[in-house]
Amino acid sequence: MSMDPGIGPRYQHGTKYQRGSMPTAPPMLGVVPPFKRYEDPLSYVELPAPEKTGGPGLWQAIADRRSRRVFAEEPIGLEQLSQLIWATTGATGGDAEHPLRACASAGALYPNETYLFINSITGVPAGIYHYEVLNHRLAMLSEGDFSRDVAMACLGQRYCATACVVFAWGAVFGRCAQKYSDRALRYVYLDAGHMGAQLQLAAEALGLGSVNIGAFFDDEVNHLLGLDGNAETIVYLTAVGTLKGL
Ligand SMILES: Cc1cc2nc3c(=O)[nH]c(=O)nc-3n(C[C@H](O)[C@H](O)[C@H](O)COP(=O)(O)O)c2cc1C
Repeated sequence: MSMDPGIGPRYQHGTKYQRGSMPTAPPMLGVVPPFKRYEDPLSYVELPAPEKTGGPGLWQAIADRRSRRVFAEEPIGLEQLSQLIWATTGATGGDAEHPLRACASAGALYPNETYLFINSITGVPAGIYHYEVLNHRLAMLSEGDFSRDVAMACLGQRYCATACVVFAWGAVFGRCAQKYSDRALRYVYLDAGHMGAQLQLAAEALGLGSVNIGAFFDDEVNHLLGLDGNAETIVYLTAVGTLKGL
């Protein structure tokens, strides 16, 4: 009797590309919209246009990047927030039907939606927001202080509560699967990893602190964001805050 190798190896083998048995694209190609838009948000926050020049330089940002978990009380400015979002998932090419984004994405499908738990951004009420890529603006989904809830949902990691903002990426699996079938399960995570990495470099370039978060109670984060955990589910988060002594 052969032992079940466990879900990890089954996933790895089950999503392999192999000569002679390549998956065919499912017939639903083009059915899942390229981005999400909330019809009736509580309000919008228009983001300032991002800067495309200046900054400390890429090599310096890479050399300085570290995960930082001790944050000061100072809020992050709206310009800085705009820059962080743009550097991670903003439109940098393409057209209004299909914008190309700051981060690479398998098949240019961009399955990961960006949500923000805003705690302390100058002039922006605390709450949960969704980023609208076409308009470079935030749609407010819930108003209030969710800092403790996010920390609890992230296995009690306290810096989530002292961060100015926690980015959260929800994968719309079908957006990627409509082209890549089960292999999409690899790609949504790879895409999210790129976003977390690029966000950290952008934070470093702005003199802010950040830490990526892979440890969280999935259902609890999904509940906070209003995601069903099937069609769309949380895959990754990154907390960003101001640094003490700056
Ligand atoms: C996929 C991933 C998940 C992570 N999850 C957490 C986390 O849940 N909590 C945390 O404090 N750090 C987390 N980190 C940060 C790592 O601990 C950190 O990158 C590592 O210790 C190396 O340190 P450095 O980033 O300062 O170079 C995560 C990093 C990655 C890439």
